[in-house]
Amino acid sequence: MVCTLLLLLVMGCDEGKIYPDETIDSGRTAKLTVTFNDLEAWPKKNTLSVCEFGEDRTKALLSRRITKPTSEGKQLTIQLTNIKADTKTIEIVVLNRGLELIYSYYSYPVDDSGENIEFAVGELDLGSFDRVQAQVFDQNCIACHGGSSSGLSGNLDLREENAYKSLVNVEAPLSEEGKNYVTPGDIHNSYLLDVLEDDPIHQDMFNSTGKQEVLGLIRGWIQGGALDN
Ligand code: HEC
Repeated sequence: MVCTLLLLLVMGCDEGKIYPDETIDSGRTAKLTVTFNDLEAWPKKNTLSVCEFGEDRTKALLSRRITKPTSEGKQLTIQLTNIKADTKTIEIVVLNRGLELIYSYYSYPVDDSGENIEFAVGELDLGSFDRVQAQVFDQNCIACHGGSSSGLSGNLDLREENAYKSLVNVEAPLSEEGKNYVTPGDIHNSYLLDVLEDDPIHQDMFNSTGKQEVLGLIRGWIQGGALDN
């Protein structure tokens, strides 16, 4: 008897017909389409999510994790229901497990008209240089590579205004094979990856999934052509 009831309940849920329609459809909805490129740069330690933010952007009011698509260039449609009254923006972001904002790729302003929302994000390059700078260099590197009191380790400046031109198509003096720090489109000729993977000073800067995420992000950026995007 209990089993049958449970079964009915589960089937009912699948069809979504347990509640009267008004309850399901009430509230403001948002529908967006987005296409992701550079899937190599999909977060591993953090999550890629769609979020609602209010005034306080440090913590999402609501977040929904996006499932990684099976292939590049596939358009996804994402629907949100019951948009909160104090939502100011809907964003596509990298969030940590505590739902704190690590990086925002895209932000859509939400007005207070109460009307349903629909927008197209278009194509997003997950391996953007802007994310590499914000998530990796600003957070983990400029203490030593930033010209502060500690100087410039390895004579390499990774501050926002200098990082791109310090790295891309610049030969790395310590590379025995004469690699560049970054060669667009060629991860095997990019010494930056070797340093993060194997150099004694740098290899343990991140925990294991954190390291996979950082390496994936930088690989995705390089494979996508190491654009200044
Ligand atoms: C605790 C200080 C410290 C931090 C933090 C640090 N580095 Fe370094 N880095 C060094 C030192 C010292 C060198 C000098 C070369 C060596 O001995 O490896 C160096 C060298 C390098 C080099 C090679 C430079 C050359 O001369 O060929 C690269 C690339 C590099 N760091 C990237 C990074 C990146 C990317 C980060 C952040 C994820 C980072 N480093 C964080 C200390 C640091």
